[in-house]
Amino acid sequence: MTPVADATRFRYTTIAHAGRELLGPLSAESVEALLERVTPAPVAGRQPAVLDVGCGKGGILVRAMARLGATGVGIDPNPAFLAEARVRAAGASLVRGPELRCATLAETHLAPGAFDLAICTGAAHAFGDLDAALAGLVPPVCAHGRALVGHGYWRREPAADYLAAFGGTAGELAALEPTLAAAARSGWTLVSHHVSTHEEWDDYERGYAAAMRVWLTAHPDDPDAPAFRDRVEAWSAAYERRGRDTMGFVTMLLQR
Ligand SMILES: C[S@@+](CC[C@H](N)C(=O)[O-])C[C@H]1O[C@@H](n2cnc3c(N)ncnc32)[C@H](O)[C@@H]1O
Repeated sequence: MTPVADATRFRYTTIAHAGRELLGPLSAESVEALLERVTPAPVAGRQPAVLDVGCGKGGILVRAMARLGATGVGIDPNPAFLAEARVRAAGASLVRGPELRCATLAETHLAPGAFDLAICTGAAHAFGDLDAALAGLVPPVCAHGRALVGHGYWRREPAADYLAAFGGTAGELAALEPTLAAAARSGWTLVSHHVSTHEEWDDYERGYAAAMRVWLTAHPDDPDAPAFRDRVEAWSAAYERRGRDTMGFVTMLLQR
């Protein structure tokens, strides 16, 4: 059963992501194209294994497991997302269902060298920041292991009113080139990368706002409705006015 505190804590994001498999500006086709390039070197005595930190609804984890014939571990503190990941995994052709841990990264233990592919898309905050995520994904992967890391970057210098709209700072992201270069600082080699298109961004951001508006229409008297309405409209306006041309998202396929 979902603890009440967790259900409340994750209520907004769970509603805004209703009906969505991938919780970021990334299409299924882009994910498949990146995963196509992952060919794990066989490790004697075990099947290929995939880790996903901040796995959300398991959209990428389950695809990776199916494609690689791998076992998998997904970590995410949102029980509603993991419930959907469980259903997704049950409907997929997998050697074995993933182990889904309803926890933050800090609350879990990961066996060193146990994974051929470590995924972290849109969830670097689980480690702290991008550099911490790139360094933190090293211990759990095996020799010659891979990582799939998705993170935001600035397409252009963020305007002050855009940052103010979500309480952000210019220093929390970098431009594309330094974002790609960050991987090398932790000893990763960049194999390939995908820069999310405007279509992927619009599908994500407009779908996110639409899901919240559908819920607001159906629940006008909910005590959370006024705050949720203000939040989604402020975010949506900031995206349409500035965010679309300011924030980018890049997904990097990395190798040890
Ligand atoms: C933007 S979503 C991305 C989900 C998924 N990677 C995807 O691309 O579909 C970020 C996810 O990180 C999870 N998360 C937040 N804090 C976390 C933490 N400390 N440890 C692990 N996951 C966390 C959230 O619950 C959410 O599902």
